Amino acid sequence: MTAPIRRRELLAAATRRLTEGGVASPEYDAQELLAHVLETSRAQLVLVDEVAPDRADAYDVLIARRSAREPLQHLTGVAYFRHVELAVGPGVFVPRPETELLAGWAIDQASSLVEVRAPTSVEAPVVVDLCTGSGAIAKAVKDEVPGAEVHAVELSEMAFSWAERNLAGMGIDLRQGDMGEAFVDLDGRVDVVVCNPPYIPLEAWESVAVEARDHDPHLALFSGQDGLDAIRVLERRAAQLLRPGGVVGFEHADEQGGEAGRYSAPAVFSTTGRWSDVRDHRDLAGRPRFVTARLAR
Ligand SMILES: C[S@@+](CC[C@H](N)C(=O)[O-])C[C@H]1O[C@@H](n2cnc3c(N)ncnc32)[C@H](O)[C@@H]1O
Repeated sequence: MTAPIRRRELLAAATRRLTEGGVASPEYDAQELLAHVLETSRAQLVLVDEVAPDRADAYDVLIARRSAREPLQHLTGVAYFRHVELAVGPGVFVPRPETELLAGWAIDQASSLVEVRAPTSVEAPVVVDLCTGSGAIAKAVKDEVPGAEVHAVELSEMAFSWAERNLAGMGIDLRQGDMGEAFVDLDGRVDVVVCNPPYIPLEAWESVAVEARDHDPHLALFSGQDGLDAIRVLERRAAQLLRPGGVVGFEHADEQGGEAGRYSAPAVFSTTGRWSDVRDHRDLAGRPRFVTARLAR
């Protein structure tokens, strides 16, 4: 390309290519990527009339990669989660908007403890994020409840490196390891356990979106034939970590929200006799999304 190109035409052509590539939000992604190459924000794009040839070439490369279904966040290098930003790329799960609800629940639990305990106590609420990935939930909790004592663990070496980068300087205790054995030093004194574990049944492989299947680490997605293996580990570990009356919240797949049956995430908790108030919560689209429970006193 040699002459500047009108922004509107560039965006329209890019949106068409993304639509043809099967991208779910073609207009939004076309705008985000243009804003990225122009080092501006999506809202400021209206101020741009023409795009210089070298920027249009760089944009063309990104549109081709997005049409081939590379995740938008891998191309921009950033994911937004509640009020925080996270660096993301190959080797780490891209945080999803639906997980913001689970993080919001953990934040509400931790803030209510700050209110109950203050001003007579200096005891900070203790929050543990098992399976932290990029560090999204831990970072959001610390950002919105600075008085909380936040701990996070991640098994994958590559994901752990992203979390290290994202949580640097925040005063969060980040460790690399298996959630099934993590934080034995905290046993019996945790107030809130929060977890977005891998939960997709291996048998559902073909139904997973190309972006996730080809670019999210498989350790972050799949968890046994019924998708509940990691949730079973979580049930055991959360029971050891929490103080009596402490709470756990974890995300699951749409079809795992029922009270009973082969795919029931609530049943993993309700059948052990260790938990009270086992409750499933829906997301903004009305789909079953996360379970919360309280460790019996
Ligand atoms: C669905 S991702 C969630 C990441 C992040 N919490 C989020 O919501 O964006 C699940 C994460 O759990 C990690 N993981 C899987 N099994 C684990 C285990 N046994 N112990 C610790 N982390 C594990 C994966 O590597 C992945 O980063």
